[in-house]
Amino acid sequence: AANANTAALAGTVGPAGAVEAAPLTILYGSQTGNAKAVASQLKSQAESRGLSVKLVNMADYKTSALKKEKFLTIAVSTYGEGEPPEDAEALHAFLASKKAPKLDGVKVAVIGLGDTSYEFFCQTAKDFEQRLTKLGADVIYQRADLDVDYEEQATQWIVGALDVFEPDLKAQQQSQTNVVSMPLSASVAQSQYTKQNPFAAELSVVQKITGRESSKDVRHIELSLDGSDITYAPGDSLGVYFLNDEVLVDQVLAALEISPDTSVTVGNDTLSVRDALIEKLELTQSYPGFVEKYAQATNNAKLLTLVADKAQLRVYIEARQIFDVILQNPANIEAQTLVDCCRKLQARLYSIASSQAEVEDEVHLTVGLVEFDTFDETHFGGCSGYLANRAEEGARVKVFSEHNDNFRLPASDETPIIMVGPGTGIAPFRAFLQERDVREASGDNWLFFGNPNFTQDFLYQLEIQGYVKSGLLNQVDLAFSRDQAQKIYVQDRLREKGEAVFAWLEKGAHFYVCGDANRMAKDVHQALIDIVKAHGGKDDEQAEQYLKELRSQNRYQKDVY
Ligand code: 2AM
Repeated sequence: AANANTAALAGTVGPAGAVEAAPLTILYGSQTGNAKAVASQLKSQAESRGLSVKLVNMADYKTSALKKEKFLTIAVSTYGEGEPPEDAEALHAFLASKKAPKLDGVKVAVIGLGDTSYEFFCQTAKDFEQRLTKLGADVIYQRADLDVDYEEQATQWIVGALDVFEPDLKAQQQSQTNVVSMPLSASVAQSQYTKQNPFAAELSVVQKITGRESSKDVRHIELSLDGSDITYAPGDSLGVYFLNDEVLVDQVLAALEISPDTSVTVGNDTLSVRDALIEKLELTQSYPGFVEKYAQATNNAKLLTLVADKAQLRVYIEARQIFDVILQNPANIEAQTLVDCCRKLQARLYSIASSQAEVEDEVHLTVGLVEFDTFDETHFGGCSGYLANRAEEGARVKVFSEHNDNFRLPASDETPIIMVGPGTGIAPFRAFLQERDVREASGDNWLFFGNPNFTQDFLYQLEIQGYVKSGLLNQVDLAFSRDQAQKIYVQDRLREKGEAVFAWLEKGAHFYVCGDANRMAKDVHQALIDIVKAHGGKDDEQAEQYLKELRSQNRYQKDVY
């Protein structure tokens, strides 16, 4: 019985009267693809042990199947203020609802992906474990809550979890090898270049596209993928590695009285501490874990007190980058000890702003320079600072493409689309428009764009106006928030055009949002609810249901950060 239909029969009495083996079910809820990657790794490791596996995206999981589960693993990330990824929302809520079935005797293990720089670190994984336990499931392997550099620990967790699951699974699966799996949709070929093995792409263009008087500094970046086999589709992101600022690194080394050429090891590499700090370690993006380690390593009384109070620690770390913490608390420590306090530098992900149909072996990004003044110095974001200030045109930048099947143009070129992308949220829509332009897609395109000032911040103005002229863009609505006394935002423009927006949705349009997750995407969601209520004659609950339906049809997609 080695076909996909056995998934539905797993654990039930089969035609011959024998109890069929339950597979190891792996459910994943992914936002940027990390949880999915861990789930896929778990699947292949389990299969190589001869175990039968069912791998399912939580968004596609039928909750009615829960009753039949015997062995369940969950790989789920957390984002924002402890929220589940969109694909995990329904199952997350279902498990806490009255409808959730008893799961007595079901063996479970949960692996969480998160970011310790957020307060509610791995909250969704904790929720899942707690909810499953409450329904009667037994946690048979300890949950792991992993930080952004999760790979090594994920691999360890997979081995440990499978060691525990394997005997039970083998005992009931015996000779059966009904490998049941759902294919992961792969819309773009996998490259040999990955997060672990990035491609050194030539930086060909760094162009400031905000005006001299703008409050923002946004750069249009072009890189050449010539010589690589990297491909990407509109909606994908590019992972970018960067070098830390040498000036800062030298300040840190001087403050700690560490000789720059002292040899240290980072993972499997041995190199000078100076190179390690420039190339391999996080010095900008702050997170509480650094302060904890550094406080202990330096036995700094002030920092140790801070670490004991999580709320205070959070306030402290939010106002600082990692190097600030070091420069303000110099100590006499060994080079290797410093290195061990720092976490590995992570690539930054940017939504790709180009389509290969148009730019072929180039890849374009729209990068907002992260910049703020504190402690009498201008501080810059690690990667945006590198791209905007330090990397020279012609430099080689290590990159890889990260596929995102949760943000895709409609399958049909005839389907209308509505794109809401204020600020650098415009990026993937530039890719969408390039793609649809080259394909001569007949579907209507509507863009909502916003930024502070028309004269300073109209990103890609000429291109957008060109697309209006050529007819590719059927409608453009602009929200320049500071050009008048009262703020006007994209959601205000959406509401003004509510009737037409609703009409587009009714005729099958896909709705896309890209940009700020905390405020903008929430306000846009609320605007949509109001539009569906006002023009669809629905109440709050029905409007939510309407949007849920859109989401489940993949017609409401977000790429927010
Ligand atoms: P503001 O900075 O003038 O308030 C891109 O950053 C644009 O998004 C800016 O015009 C910014 O306006 C605007 N913006 C700020 N908060 C927003 C929100 N809650 N919803 C939508 N746009 C917002």
